[in-house]
Amino acid sequence: MSTSSSGGFKSAKACVFDAYGTLFDVHSAVRRGGSELGEKAAMVSELWRQKQLEYTWLRSLMGAHVDFWQVTADSLAFALSASNTESTALHDELMTMYMSLDAYPEVLPVLTGLKNAGLATAILSNGSPSMLTAAIESADLGSVLDHALSVEEVGIYKPDSSVYQLAVDKLGIPKEAICFLSSNGWDARGAAHFGFTVAWVNRFEREPERLPGEIEATIKTLDQLLPLLGLDSTGQ
Ligand code: LAC
Repeated sequence: MSTSSSGGFKSAKACVFDAYGTLFDVHSAVRRGGSELGEKAAMVSELWRQKQLEYTWLRSLMGAHVDFWQVTADSLAFALSASNTESTALHDELMTMYMSLDAYPEVLPVLTGLKNAGLATAILSNGSPSMLTAAIESADLGSVLDHALSVEEVGIYKPDSSVYQLAVDKLGIPKEAICFLSSNGWDARGAAHFGFTVAWVNRFEREPERLPGEIEATIKTLDQLLPLLGLDSTGQ
């Protein structure tokens, strides 16, 4: 774990989480439903994710918003076609799998610790409301999350500042008292630039993004969140 200062974390009143890649493993869809892809599986999964993110940024710049379900379907169609593995049945199967992605193993105990400590918890995600509801239900996280906030309320994707402002407005907590967690380096930067206290969950050992916004801590998994907040593993 590396931190530049932990003052902001220790006075946090809420923890707000990115969903895809941070709480939920986006590659679990291809792992579970993509066996016919064989040795192309990892490449398809990576390309799907990369295109999905690009389409969110590009549609935001174009002023041509569609919800994340559509973006996810379009980017999967691109990835399957680009790797010569196009099949309607496979596309449908992988989209179905995307509705019930695996949560990373530490997610439930960490969220439980945060609730025990009296902190507010929320997801703030590009995901559409129905995608978030399904992911939360299948991972059984409903009792440890106070809010599931979707960009659909503002009609533009991260890292537009109106998305981060949505968390401030819905939680009724000033941005200085919100700790934000994302495994997506660009999202971590966007949230820090907005004014949250940010820990980048660098699960994939990625290179830091050269973008504005000062990230206060870099952690490997969410297991390191409770100590950052000055709490033990039960939230005491
Ligand atoms: C999200 C994407 C960025 O959940 O992973 O918002």
